[in-house]
This record gives sequence, C-alpha cells and structure tokens, in this order.
Amino acid sequence: MAPRRSRTPHGAVDTSWQTIALGDRIVDARTATDLLSPPPTSTITLAGGYLHRSLQPTKALGAALSRAARRPDAWDRAPTAGLETLRSLFARLAGADVDADDVLITSGGQDALSMAFRSIAAPGSPILVESPTYQGALAAARAAGLRPIPVPIDAHGIRPDLLADAFATTGARLLYCQPTFHNPTGAVLPPERRRQVLDIARAAGAFILEDDFARLLGHGGPMPRPLLADDNDGTVVYLTSLTKPASPSLRIGALIARGPVAHRLRATRLVDDFFLARPLQEAAVELISTPSWDRHLRGLATALRERCAALAAALATEIPEWTLSSVPQGGLHLWVRIPGPLESATAIADAAHARDVAVSVGSGYFAAEPTGAYLRLGFAATADLAQLSEGVHRLSGATRHLRSADS
Ligand SMILES: Cc1ncc(COP(=O)(O)O)c(C=O)c1O
Repeated sequence: MAPRRSRTPHGAVDTSWQTIALGDRIVDARTATDLLSPPPTSTITLAGGYLHRSLQPTKALGAALSRAARRPDAWDRAPTAGLETLRSLFARLAGADVDADDVLITSGGQDALSMAFRSIAAPGSPILVESPTYQGALAAARAAGLRPIPVPIDAHGIRPDLLADAFATTGARLLYCQPTFHNPTGAVLPPERRRQVLDIARAAGAFILEDDFARLLGHGGPMPRPLLADDNDGTVVYLTSLTKPASPSLRIGALIARGPVAHRLRATRLVDDFFLARPLQEAAVELISTPSWDRHLRGLATALRERCAALAAALATEIPEWTLSSVPQGGLHLWVRIPGPLESATAIADAAHARDVAVSVGSGYFAAEPTGAYLRLGFAATADLAQLSEGVHRLSGATRHLRSADS
C-alpha cells in the first residue's frame, strides 16, 4: 500500500486520501461567500446585505466598545444564555410578552439560524421554507442535513392554503419564515394571514422559526407585531440581530423561545462554545441603551426610505421592463422580475459585473426550481444616492447591450 501522506510530484502535500475520509457530506459555502465578499472599491454594490459604512453608527460603536473595555468585569465569563441586561433589551425589542429568561444571545442572525435548525430538526428531516427565501438560511439548513421544501409566497407573504398542504404532504415539523419585510421580496404578512399561519403550524404540531431580521430596519411607518406576540404555546422560535441596523461585525443577535426547545437551544450553545465573548455583549449593551441609538435608528429609517424610493424611481425610468414585487416599507432590498428565461438574470449580472456593478441573482433564493428570472437589488450598501442612480444607469446599459447582442 502506498504511504498515505506522500508528496505529489510537485512537492505539495498529497491530501487526496481526505476525499474518501470526508465522504459525501458537503457544507456549501458559496452563498455565504457571495454575501460576504467585499466588492472591489471600484464596484458599485447593489448586492450587499449590510449598511454602507456611512450609514453605520461608527462613532457610537467605537464609544460603546471603549466604555465596555473599561468595565472591570469585561473579560469575565458570561452566562451561557448571555448577559442579563442584553437579554432584557432584546425581550423589550421583540415587543411580545416575553422576558429576559426566554432570550438566548447569539452571534448574529446566522448563528441563531444554524443553532435553531440543528436543535429543532433531526438530520434528514424536511423543513418548510418560503419560496423564495434568504439564501443563507437555505445554506444553514442544508449544512444541518435538513431538506428545505419550498412553499410559494405572493405579494402578501406565505400562502396559508398551500402551507397546510405542505405540512400534510411532507410531515415537516418546522417552518422557517420572515413575516416582516421578507428577504428578498420585502413582503409583509397581513394580520389575518399571521393568525392562519400560526393556526396551521399548531395543527401540524410544528414549530415556526420567525426570522425578524428587519425589526429595526423599518422605513418610518408602523411596524407589524411579530408572530411571537400572538404565540401562547411556544410554537414560535424567534430570532433577530443587531448586525443589520448597526454593523456586520456587531455579531450579536438573539433567539427567543419558550418550553423544552429553549432548553435544547441553551444546551446547544453550551456544548458548542460555552458562551459568547463578553466584551462584544457589553459593547452591544452600551450601544443600544443610549439615546444616540434611537437617534441613529430614526436617521437610518429616513435614509433607507429615501434610498428605496430613489432606487425604485430610477429603475422605473431607466429599465421600465423590469417589474418590482413591491416598494417595501422596510428592509434593504428590492426584488425585481426580469423578462425572459431564467438565464437572463445571470446574463445581466455578468454584464453588470463587467461594468463594475454587483447584483444578486435570484435563483439562489429558491429551494428548488426558480419561478422566473429575478435579481435582488440592495439600496443600503452604496455610498450615497448618486452611486445608486449611477448603478442603475450602468444596469440599464448592460441590459441594452444584451438586447442588442441578442437581435
Ligand atoms: C433574513 C436574514 N436572516 C439572517 C441573516 C444573518 O445576518 P447576521 O448573521 O449578519 O445577523 C441575514 C443576513 O443577510 C438575513 O438576510
């Protein structure tokens, strides 16, 4: 038998044995790579899922971190569930009848998703997801060995008639959904549907994982109550995060759960990594309990409203053949239908890339076959409104170029 760890003819370590040892499991990181790769500075990014630095509370973050660092207990251990004060702040933020004991601090929303998927559903199980949905959730579910089954949504979010069917045919015991400013479409589930979705999940004996990532990303209008607020039997496991309204590196979020599932989530945190780094938790407390945080959120709402309207208006003028699913009242994105076959979205993304504009191709947001050609266009990651309109101008050039190449 050949020695296992030999060198290749080029002198590199021969790791080919690992292919057999690792077997057929795969953690597909393409989505996360797409979400996180910083674009070259010359690129106008309509692809990102975080705020441009000019919209982040950079000064307040710095001040919060230095106040946190001066606390004598900053480097002590933290409780597994997270700091009590931080948990109370998240309990209040959720606007539901929950208290600090129901809250588990997480390392942002992605950690909350991964923990919840792994803790609630056994590998191999089906889970229901909106179609389309946040592609990072699909990646996390698949990495946990789960099988995401799509349930169609319309302009008002998930369709209750099809949801009941999906539970019945799959036997799923978990629905992942975003009732408020859904990523990518911006849809908001109306009150009547919220009640129906809760009732249907209850009848199926299933959990709902409510991803309320946009709780602090409203554009100034009224915010719907989370599903959690109408949950009286522990059906809803709720998550939210500070990364979107503050900064991607303020990796602090929360899971809120009641009953045995809450114990399981805490046990998962403990076994995975004991607890989250205390200095960052202290910094989050310092940031969000000051009056400057509320000022930041008010300013952010105005900026997002302006940017959203500007992007929608520029698209209507420059590329009228594209259809917006809505002009959302919250969140960071527009969801745009492109005429033509599925491949047209990729072709536009490639042509846009050649003009230094990054967009996000819609097919990755579907758990199965996409229902059409879509792009997700973000309005929060550009430096300013001028860059946003220049981005649309270049996109319009890219579509014209493709059309003339086709004819
Ligand atoms: C719907 C949704 N949930 C969760 C996340 C995870 O965000 P983070 O881990 O940065 O809090 C994202 C990020 O794009 C998202 O769009």
